[in-house]
Amino acid sequence: MTTTAGLPDSTLPPFFSYQDQALHAEGVPLQRLAEEHGTPLFVYSRAAILDALAAYQRGLAGREHLICYAMKANSSLAILQTLVQAGCGLDIVSGGELERALAVGVSPDKIIFSGVGKTRAEMRQALQVGIGCFNVESRAELDVLDEVAREMGLRAPVSVRVNPNVDAKTHPYISTGLKGNKFGIAQEDVVETYRHAAACAGLRVVGIDCHIGSQITQTGPYLDAMDRVLDAVESIEAAGVKIEHIDFGGGLGIDYQGNDNPPAADALWQALLQRLDARGFGDRKICIEPGRSLVGNAGACLTEVLFLKPGEQKNFLIVDAAMNDLPRPAMYQAFHRIVPVQPRAADASSTVWDVVGPVCESGDWIGRDRELAVHSGDLLAVLSAGAYCMSMASNYNTRGRAAEVLVDGTQAHLIRARESVADQTRLERLL
Ligand code: LLP
Repeated sequence: MTTTAGLPDSTLPPFFSYQDQALHAEGVPLQRLAEEHGTPLFVYSRAAILDALAAYQRGLAGREHLICYAMKANSSLAILQTLVQAGCGLDIVSGGELERALAVGVSPDKIIFSGVGKTRAEMRQALQVGIGCFNVESRAELDVLDEVAREMGLRAPVSVRVNPNVDAKTHPYISTGLKGNKFGIAQEDVVETYRHAAACAGLRVVGIDCHIGSQITQTGPYLDAMDRVLDAVESIEAAGVKIEHIDFGGGLGIDYQGNDNPPAADALWQALLQRLDARGFGDRKICIEPGRSLVGNAGACLTEVLFLKPGEQKNFLIVDAAMNDLPRPAMYQAFHRIVPVQPRAADASSTVWDVVGPVCESGDWIGRDRELAVHSGDLLAVLSAGAYCMSMASNYNTRGRAAEVLVDGTQAHLIRARESVADQTRLERLL
């Protein structure tokens, strides 16, 4: 395998490769996209997204199932459209996400509404269009939803999120299935909650759900959570409430480091289906809500090196992308690989750099201690940037949000224009 600036090609995410010493997404050289659209620039591979989805579709083939893409991972319309056209439903967490879902033409019955804090207005909006299921997270939410639905003369389809008290073994900020988290209803309260829901005239119990966290790289926590959820289904049905679908949430991790080794989606589901069958629930409709694993490794963020700033203790590489574009390192100490778009000759001398952005905070770093051979003006690609980057981007320091391009073979489509200052100040008023 050829090595470019110390990076074996095989460790690049699928559909990204060096061709003639230049980094490509599918058949498109990234340098050309940066010249055309400027930087920072997010570039996604359509084939990578569909390939990631295909692994889930293979894993669940032959079972009644619904894959609802958790659009919080990346809610750009063209990304949603790509997944919806390939058969996905959508998992939403706000009225805004509902509008995005409707804008790409997803069938409302393939929408699942998750989240601990839905407002009455959001409940109404979702009931109006006839979404498939509300994933409810507390007794108080259940009661308000019941009231709102009755006022509208409707019955809200509901599933209750169980907190299985399972350690997902991931970063504490993205771990959600432990007792100390704000999510879901404790195992011991589940049966009573379902009894109550079944007796509410404005509610129709359709399922049960759980979600134990994100960037999970082991199968064990999933199996444990499945066992707990199935225990709950047994008790709920023994109490006379029928559960039609079981929603196992999202959470499957991706390879950020080049050696993270999360299970492939089809292998994970092979293991989970075996357990489901063994426990006698093989005939149930399965729902899942994957986000990161569908889009994370399909995206890269291109950034230009502005300045080299060698120092006594640290060498800083100052680039034009920042924590407002790529918030994950600042928020979760997350690791993203950073590679040159047009690598310098193999014998070029490299230096160990902290790659940082222009934002006025020491927390504005993108990668620490990275060995790179670069000059100012060079382009770098921050890999695995398809999930929770653009969707979490902000305007901090009045930085416009980046543009986005979706590559399809040798074609490149601009799917979001760069945000201007006028876009940012549009809603503001002088005194
Ligand atoms: N379903 C529910 C109820 C969720 O809360 C989440 C993610 C998902 C599905 C999708 O999980 P995924 O398959 O993407 O792991 N910003 C963080 C991740 C936050 C995840 C929040 N919930 C990050 O950048 O790592």
